Amino acid sequence: MEEMMQPGWEHLVDSVRSGNTSFEKVFGQDFFSYLHENPERSAGFNQAMSRATESTAAVLPEAFDFARFATIADVGGGDGTLLAAVLREYPSANGILHDTEDGLAQAPETLRRHGLVDRCTLAPGDFFASVPEGADVYLIKSILHDWSDQQCVEILAHCRQVLPADGRVLIIEPVLPEVVDPRSVGLYLGDLNMLVNWGGRERTRQEFDEVCRQAGLEILSVVPLGGPGFCLIEAKAIALGVA
Ligand SMILES: C[S@@+](CC[C@H](N)C(=O)[O-])C[C@H]1O[C@@H](n2cnc3c(N)ncnc32)[C@H](O)[C@@H]1O
Repeated sequence: MEEMMQPGWEHLVDSVRSGNTSFEKVFGQDFFSYLHENPERSAGFNQAMSRATESTAAVLPEAFDFARFATIADVGGGDGTLLAAVLREYPSANGILHDTEDGLAQAPETLRRHGLVDRCTLAPGDFFASVPEGADVYLIKSILHDWSDQQCVEILAHCRQVLPADGRVLIIEPVLPEVVDPRSVGLYLGDLNMLVNWGGRERTRQEFDEVCRQAGLEILSVVPLGGPGFCLIEAKAIALGVA
């Protein structure tokens, strides 16, 4: 991971001045295109994400009551670590695990290990084109901070398009304080990492409100999830005619 992340940091000043991603300057392509051409690194990244998600996977099934939802999708869900934790806790629910082919490469093994092959469908795809239909709740963890506001609106609008009236989008991301807080130094370093390596950013509650509103969603609650600043942001569709 360091071999991929470090070079971008060496051009931090350029990124801060220009707002452009340094990763592309160093590697000549964006992060996920680079992973596509380097399957070993892609597998390493998926594994690192899986490990990083374990702490959220340990608390999410208790932090949110999924009992009334029959089908749970994870958009950009990687190897399925988070979705597997939810499905194991809610045995009557089925899952849809969405990601690119590269992102899903390790998912069959994760689902097999958790005994979930029969309860979870793999849905390869591109969330800038669409997200899979048929779920009642859409998880989306550590995705939005990889992208610009406009790209976040596109991804969330695709979730909104397929969301049932009483469905939910559950965004799981760090949330920056509204006023800069020096105790949150880790969050600001994460924010810079998103800039130099992906061209994304961390966001405040107000900034999440705005991208959700533009996508036709309204935030109902934001609760801390434990771990490094991660919060659970529960959103539902703004009723047509009200948006
Ligand atoms: C930072 S990882 C987060 C993975 C997982 N949600 C987690 O928190 O462990 C970002 C994920 O987005 C996926 N991704 C990137 N571009 C995508 C696209 N256009 N459509 C679908 N998934 C994409 C990557 O393959 C990767 O699995």
